[in-house]
Amino acid sequence: MMSRNILAHSSRLIRPGRQPSRRTSTLNSKAAPATVTVLQNEMPDCDHKPPTYKGPSYENITELRRNHLTPNIQSYYKKPLLISSGHMQWLYDHDGNRYLDMFGGIVTVSVGHCHPKVNKALEQQIKTLWHTTNIYMHPKIHEYAQKLTAKFPGNLKAVCFVNSGSEANDLAMLMARLHTGNQDILTLRNCYHGMSPYTMGLTAHSTWRFPLAGVSNGIHHVMNPDPYTGIWGGANCRDSPIQTDRKCDCSVETGCKATDMYYNELEQTFKYSLPRGKVAAMFAESIQGVGGTVQFPKGYIKKAAELVRANGGVFVADEVQTGFGRTGDHFWGFEGHGIVPDIVTMAKGIGNGFPMAAVVTTPEIAKSLGMALHFNTYGGNPMASAVGIAVLDVIEEEQLQKNSLEVGTYFLNKLAELRDSYEIVGDVRGKGLMIGLELVSDRKTKAPLGVPHVLEIWEQCKDMGVLFGRGGLNGNIFRIKPPMCINKSDVNFAVDVLNRAISDFLAKN
Ligand SMILES: Cc1ncc(COP(=O)(O)O)c(C=O)c1O
Repeated sequence: MMSRNILAHSSRLIRPGRQPSRRTSTLNSKAAPATVTVLQNEMPDCDHKPPTYKGPSYENITELRRNHLTPNIQSYYKKPLLISSGHMQWLYDHDGNRYLDMFGGIVTVSVGHCHPKVNKALEQQIKTLWHTTNIYMHPKIHEYAQKLTAKFPGNLKAVCFVNSGSEANDLAMLMARLHTGNQDILTLRNCYHGMSPYTMGLTAHSTWRFPLAGVSNGIHHVMNPDPYTGIWGGANCRDSPIQTDRKCDCSVETGCKATDMYYNELEQTFKYSLPRGKVAAMFAESIQGVGGTVQFPKGYIKKAAELVRANGGVFVADEVQTGFGRTGDHFWGFEGHGIVPDIVTMAKGIGNGFPMAAVVTTPEIAKSLGMALHFNTYGGNPMASAVGIAVLDVIEEEQLQKNSLEVGTYFLNKLAELRDSYEIVGDVRGKGLMIGLELVSDRKTKAPLGVPHVLEIWEQCKDMGVLFGRGGLNGNIFRIKPPMCINKSDVNFAVDVLNRAISDFLAKN
């Protein structure tokens, strides 16, 4: 149970007059949702008619899942959803209930569920050629390689296609080590770079690590430059419309002190833990995703990349979540840090849900793969390449990067109002449609809100028709990374639902 003190305090902080009006919302288009509640904004309309679900029963699926899938496959929600179809920002369950998808299949559905143009490209390709490996030439991979690499600055012109984010980071580790001849790799604590035996070592979350020997071989996790929960941070550190509530006495003359302090910490690792002047790479997500949308103080990544290069290494930007326009101001997250990385890894949004990924690097670094045979059966196969081309086209034609910026900024500002209203909303951060909202039990100490409490709020959001993700080591951060086609009415509805779920939670506890 939450301490009385905290709750009494929290409840007082609900602004009078900001309660939703007493209007009953019929939230889902069909069957009644588990909770009938009152909201200011109803679920936005959608013309799409989902196909009637004709598959195995809910009970049958539950049993099959229990008996035939490995136990690592976990389900969100007390009564897991059986999702039967999707359309743009909407998901439908087996009963035809409609949900606003604010997590996009874990930041993967970039342009919208079953986007018609991507569907069409895939259908055409399926009728023409499914697969041939790269022992032959087929047109699509070449067209795609040209189109994708055109999105990169500098000499980032060589691409190797693979099938998942973990595989992309595996390959980036291999290239970095072969190219530099060095072994040691740095990552930031709280990062997530994958779950393959190789990348599990990069990932720095105890929750995602198995007790295996050799996983951390040559990998060092350095202090996370987190301006909200970290030791240092102030009111101007983040590249976000919303800053932390910490104080800041930095000026243009002093620069960002938090950046300097975290950078000094990084330097200690070079001084004490690495062979002098010999590092293979540093990996960083441009904004940490699984870790709970954690942004770094401005300037840190740039200085870190310079230090790594000065010590013989390469800088790897993991754009698995932040790429393809999601951060709004740029197509790639690393551009927001003012750097050109040596290697970039990407997955998820690249294929709008099609299992594909890529590593882009310079021709010089790519040469390292010529030291032995390197082969990937499916990487860049005709279907994947056709989908990848269509996704890039849709992002451009529908100006989804611009939409991410406009709708994301609107979203962030609305969420910041919740932070100003509720003591338990400790922080709101991110940029574009890469957003995090951190729930705390104590605003001062930033102690995380307990998981059962977080789940209560989160479940209620689902019952009211909005699906959010969760993340952070303590599971107390709402991750909001929807398909980039959402609009301001969707945001109004989602924020309204969240507001209602939080106020109901506070009233009950
Ligand atoms: C930043 C980042 N890198 C790598 C990965 C691994 O991707 P995959 O699950 O496709 O292996 C993820 C997955 O969530 C991720 O968020």
